[in-house]
Amino acid sequence: MNETEYQYTNEWFNKRDVKGVWDTLIPQLNPTKFLEIGSYEGASACYIIEKIAAKRNMELHCIDSWKGGYEHQESGNFETNMSDVETRFHHNIKLAMKKTKYDVDLSIHKGMSDEILCSLFAQNKGSYFDFIYVDGSHEAPDVLLDALLSFKLLKINGVIAFDDYLWQENLDNTPDVLRSPKIAIDAFTNIYCQKLRIFSAPLWQLYIKKISD
Ligand SMILES: C[S@@+](CC[C@H](N)C(=O)[O-])C[C@H]1O[C@@H](n2cnc3c(N)ncnc32)[C@H](O)[C@@H]1O
Repeated sequence: MNETEYQYTNEWFNKRDVKGVWDTLIPQLNPTKFLEIGSYEGASACYIIEKIAAKRNMELHCIDSWKGGYEHQESGNFETNMSDVETRFHHNIKLAMKKTKYDVDLSIHKGMSDEILCSLFAQNKGSYFDFIYVDGSHEAPDVLLDALLSFKLLKINGVIAFDDYLWQENLDNTPDVLRSPKIAIDAFTNIYCQKLRIFSAPLWQLYIKKISD
């Protein structure tokens, strides 16, 4: 492994212009407290570290089981070695942290998102985060729980970015709606419509701003 270069095996964060959207959005929001559900090799986390800690101190919590979702286990044409993924995550994060001018208060939480989100809430982190990136499990029941718990952890005027809003498993004929995020994100935004605003973004992702508890 080349110690001086990032090690990524995919382009998820660059594809469909997530990076391009964040280049515009992040300076407008000026966030300092981040939570990420689903870190994988750390592409989104390293982007945030490089972007924010070049200008000010920041706090970042990364949650991942490093077990992969079902899409890493059964439906793809490849078997992902999640232990290698986790090793690349630590390498990449270390590299990003070396590049920063300001301090990064980093917490890596290895485990299932529902349990860790509940434990953050129990540690008085309700209404705490400025920006939460939901990019963990793509199964609707998990996404719904991630959305609800994230909302509790988000400050008023904070933003949740849901990745893969329109992602569907590449099945032969009929997609399984419960194995995709959209139905869960739609249920959450409908039921919480008086407490949030959806704002304009490319539809592969969906962004909401919290307006009340
Ligand atoms: C799409 S990847 C995250 C990509 C990452 N944000 C990036 O920009 O490269 C999804 C990650 O979520 C993790 N994951 C899936 N279900 C999870 C769960 N229920 N709890 C915690 N992590 C989960 C997987 O292990 C995987 O690493």
